[in-house]
Amino acid sequence: MTQQDISVLGLGHMGATLAHLFLESGFTTTVWNRSVERAAPLVAAGATAAPDPAAAVGDAAVAVICLDRYEHAQALLEQAEVAGTLSGHVIVNLTWGTPDEARTMSRWVGERGGRYLDGNIYDYPTNLGPDSAGLSYAGDRSVFDAHRHLLAALGRPRYDGADPALPNILGSSGGIAHHVAVAGFYEAAAYAAHYGVSPAIFLEFHERLGAPLTSHACQVAVEHLQSGDFTSNQAALRTHFDSMVVNCADMRRIGQPAIMLGAFHDVLANVVEAKGDMALAAVYEDLSRPET
Ligand SMILES: NC(=O)c1ccc[n+]([C@@H]2O[C@H](COP(=O)([O-])OP(=O)(O)OC[C@H]3O[C@@H](n4cnc5c(N)ncnc54)[C@H](OP(=O)(O)O)[C@@H]3O)[C@@H](O)[C@H]2O)c1
Repeated sequence: MTQQDISVLGLGHMGATLAHLFLESGFTTTVWNRSVERAAPLVAAGATAAPDPAAAVGDAAVAVICLDRYEHAQALLEQAEVAGTLSGHVIVNLTWGTPDEARTMSRWVGERGGRYLDGNIYDYPTNLGPDSAGLSYAGDRSVFDAHRHLLAALGRPRYDGADPALPNILGSSGGIAHHVAVAGFYEAAAYAAHYGVSPAIFLEFHERLGAPLTSHACQVAVEHLQSGDFTSNQAALRTHFDSMVVNCADMRRIGQPAIMLGAFHDVLANVVEAKGDMALAAVYEDLSRPET
């Protein structure tokens, strides 16, 4: 390639890590950031600082965008000078957003002669690198195939499908599960700490038994959802609910608000009469139906 191999626009915690990884893999790298001082460490590491976003996009066959939100990435691309550089160039957008935002941006770039790959990063910057499994891509398959050697600097390239929304669908769904689970862990660790068990000791228990049990429960839930059969000879929804009644009461007795567990308790309280004998997964539809 005569031009720079790759550009990175957005040098926050994540974008700066991406740019460093491209440099470490030996790619010639252009960088741009709204606050120019954030480019300095990358220039010191061998990158070229672009004077503006249009230069960053026009300078390289592939421009990676990693801003805080799609609306800012879209505004950046919509600047007339930037839009004029898109034709024949590839945009890989690794900004976190919604499925619709990814589809809109893909269409918009395509209408200006650019090619578009959307991606989602499902890991912290420190864990990224050629062995990471934390990134997924979707959109134009030929773009993915042509540039997977570049993407391999960030993690093992994984193509999830032609719909550019897929990384955001999977990443956001994972994020919902992750944040609720992590909040649940905090609440549980605080309960253990009240009784003198340190978060570190609770973590050991959680990793040995809790996390595998949660993973197993998710697998069983999907079997119930796929079959439509919510009978269970293991633990009935009522049994789960009864344990939550006990746990919430004791948490509140010791002064914990039981926000996370209490929320699930309240959902189950509404259905336990009708669904108490079924598997816990029978509550899926109560958590997923539209708000009225
Ligand atoms: N950090 C993580 O662990 C992680 C993990 C997975 C995914 N992600 C995703 O990666 C993306 C970036 O995250 P981050 O951690 O790097 O965030 P960050 O450190 O807050 O950086 C945000 C970046 O967006 C830029 N920006 C914000 N508003 C802008 C605007 N109006 N115009 C131009 N640039 C603008 C900032 O520029 P300035 O420097 O000028 O403010 C900065 O480069 C997000 O979508 C995030 O969800 C992050």
